[in-house]
Order: sequence, then C-alpha cells, then structure tokens
Amino acid sequence: MAVDAGCGTGRSTRPLAEYFSKVIGIDISETQIIEAKRSTPQENVTYQVASVEKMPLEDASVDLISSDIAAQWFPVDKFVQEVARVLKNRGCVALHSLYPKLTIQYKNFSETLTNLYSEAFDSMYSSEHEICKIIKSEFQEIFDALPFADKKRISGITEMFHMTLAKLLGFITSSPMYQFFLTKDRDGAIAFLKTLEKKMADVIGEQCVQENLEVHFTFFCVLACKS
Ligand SMILES: C[S@@+](CC[C@H](N)C(=O)[O-])C[C@H]1O[C@@H](n2cnc3c(N)ncnc32)[C@H](O)[C@@H]1O
Repeated sequence: MAVDAGCGTGRSTRPLAEYFSKVIGIDISETQIIEAKRSTPQENVTYQVASVEKMPLEDASVDLISSDIAAQWFPVDKFVQEVARVLKNRGCVALHSLYPKLTIQYKNFSETLTNLYSEAFDSMYSSEHEICKIIKSEFQEIFDALPFADKKRISGITEMFHMTLAKLLGFITSSPMYQFFLTKDRDGAIAFLKTLEKKMADVIGEQCVQENLEVHFTFFCVLACKS
C-alpha cells in the first residue's frame, strides 16, 4: 500500500497506481479531494480528507509514504510521528519538492526571460518567507526528525518541460505563493500577472507566444526507510 500525503488533486497520486495494489491519497482540503476523485480513473486509488498529522491508517500498514510539493506545510513532529507509526518495518518515505526558482531557455532570450521570472518571483514572495526557507533547507528539519538510521537526501534533480508562455503563467497562478498573493491583494496580483505576461511577450515577440519555451525545474528529495 502507498499513501500520497498532501495529494492535492491527485496529480502525484495517480502515477503510484501501477506500482502498488492499493493507493490512498490524503489531503486536508475537501475541494482538492473532490477534484482528485473526479479525475482519477484507477480503481485501486482512493482518497480521504484527512490531515497528515492524524492519518486514517492502521499501525504498520503502509509500504510507501510519498509526498510531492507538500511537506513544507506539514507540522514536522506530528507528521514524523505518524510516518513512524503507519509504516511497516522496511517501509519507506519519499518526500520530494521543487525549488521555486527555475530557468527558461528560448532562442537568445534565455537570460532575460529567466531574470524576468526571477524578479517576479522575488517581488511575489520574499525568499525570507517561511515556506521558502523550508524548501531552501531541503526539508532539513524533517530530515533530522525522521527517526530512521537509513535516510538520505538527493539534491539537484533537474527536469525540463516544454511550456508555452500561457502554460508558464498557469504554473505561476497555481503556485501557493501566487494564491497567497491573491488572497492578500487580488487586484495587485492580477495586475502583476498581466505586467509579467506583457514583459515576457514583448521579449519573445507577439508572433511567437504560442511557441514552446524550455523550462528547467530543479527538484530534491528526502528518502528514508524504517528499520
Ligand atoms: C502544492 S499542493 C501539492 C499537491 C500534490 N501533491 C501535487 O503535487 O500536485 C500541497 C497540498 O498539501 C495539502 N496539505 C497541506 N497541509 C496538509 C496537512 N497538514 N495534511 C494534509 N494535507 C495537507 C494542501 O491542502 C495541498 O493540497
């Protein structure tokens, strides 16, 4: 059995279905769970509204706890206690996330586009924000708190995705930092996105906005095994 902790809409849950006989996605947000159920055809995947600090699971019942771009929100001590409780002996935990900064490659404009994104990111979300600090530390606190001798971190896993400008902007709007910005200052957030879109479109050229940019993300993960 695999558990996706902080499963959101099931994006990170569905890929587990082919490797495990049973997969459970857990999220505290009911809206996310409704969407996850709606968009998951696999019969061996179920979802529950629950917090990772109180998982609706029996002791020593889980082979893998996976969590993608979510552990930065978890209360460390309670989450780690639950991980230790629900994992079977030799069960594993894999926590992965991505660094907020990315690089963009497109013709001769790579540096300009990357800088534009970077400036926008910095103005949206101070790197001193708690969540940024947790990500920058590569989940150091969780790593230290995991009570297993067999653990390691892997840094700097890079992956490139092709994205049009519209897709890249969609990625920004779905990010927690933009959502946070929206709740604090809705008009400011919308204006901010429009300005960024215009600046980037001016660089790329209106006639090329449908073309794919190469967007390079960097990931890290924390892996541990209960023994
Ligand atoms: C950025 S989303 C990632 C969703 C999904 N893993 C993905 O990669 O698409 C983080 C999710 O963690 C959930 N979350 C945050 N704190 C949580 C907690 N204490 N217990 C359960 N879920 C939590 C949020 O509701 C949100 O859906």
